[in-house]
Amino acid sequence: MVRRPQLIPWRTAGRVSEEQASADDVVREIGWVFNNETGNRLHLEQFTSTGDHEIFAYLNAFELPTDDLAQQTLVEIGSGIGRMTSGFTKVFGHVIACDLDAAFLERCRQTVAKLGIVEHLRTCHVADGRMLPVADNQADLTFSYITLQHCQRDDALSLVGEAARVTKPGGHIALNFRTWTPIDVFLWPLGKITRALWRVPGLGPWLARRRLASRLGWQANRLSPDKVSNYLDGLTERFATRTIYHSPHRKLAERSDAELRTFEGVHRSHWWLVAERL
Ligand SMILES: C[S@@+](CC[C@H](N)C(=O)[O-])C[C@H]1O[C@@H](n2cnc3c(N)ncnc32)[C@H](O)[C@@H]1O
Repeated sequence: MVRRPQLIPWRTAGRVSEEQASADDVVREIGWVFNNETGNRLHLEQFTSTGDHEIFAYLNAFELPTDDLAQQTLVEIGSGIGRMTSGFTKVFGHVIACDLDAAFLERCRQTVAKLGIVEHLRTCHVADGRMLPVADNQADLTFSYITLQHCQRDDALSLVGEAARVTKPGGHIALNFRTWTPIDVFLWPLGKITRALWRVPGLGPWLARRRLASRLGWQANRLSPDKVSNYLDGLTERFATRTIYHSPHRKLAERSDAELRTFEGVHRSHWWLVAERL
């Protein structure tokens, strides 16, 4: 497999997760990778409760169908150690958690076994970071939060195509992206330097365990609504509706291919694409 630098911090964090004795220790050591919280008193239940709150905030804000969730299948791209997956298994009948790192997926299963419904869970290893080992037309909802911004640009677009492929007609995709902000004048070059340093033997894995360096380097792409929309237009799968959710504190130009809506819960630098597959 091609060694792509943006995979390094996740595999490093995955290895750290393998070394921990308990799920609470995992959260103390690498929980910040997922929700930015640090502290030696943190525990798994607090960690997943942040995900539990977000699930309903997003399902409601995006007006996704919620009346028969127990019959629905959700595909999550970038599940990590199960911060949101645990809650997803409590509301969806089937959850397919996909992640780049196999150790995260093992920890995800443990998280769900403790705090979710493990019988509802299947895990899928995205070994190449771009193709989901999931059959076509499986998902009622394909969801991805704070993950596509961490992939190399082409991998992120490939995963958008995969989301479209695994979602059944009538189902939805809800995908979160990061786009440009003024502070990127500084952040973008620093991120490039950090990703280059990750490749240096010895230094790279050490750096990938440092919070500041990771935060600088791991946002490996910025994707605009135009770019993603054009990519969707080139797919064989078609979408009946497209809605872009963005922060009310950030203006986006009106567009002909998608309705624009604001939601307070969206970070200024983020946006979401929510679309129904035909
Ligand atoms: C910041 S975490 C977010 C996890 C989870 N969505 C949450 O909100 O807690 C990003 C996750 O994406 C995974 N990831 C990064 N690149 C990926 C790729 N190319 N394919 C699949 N998963 C990827 C990482 O391993 C990590 O678990």
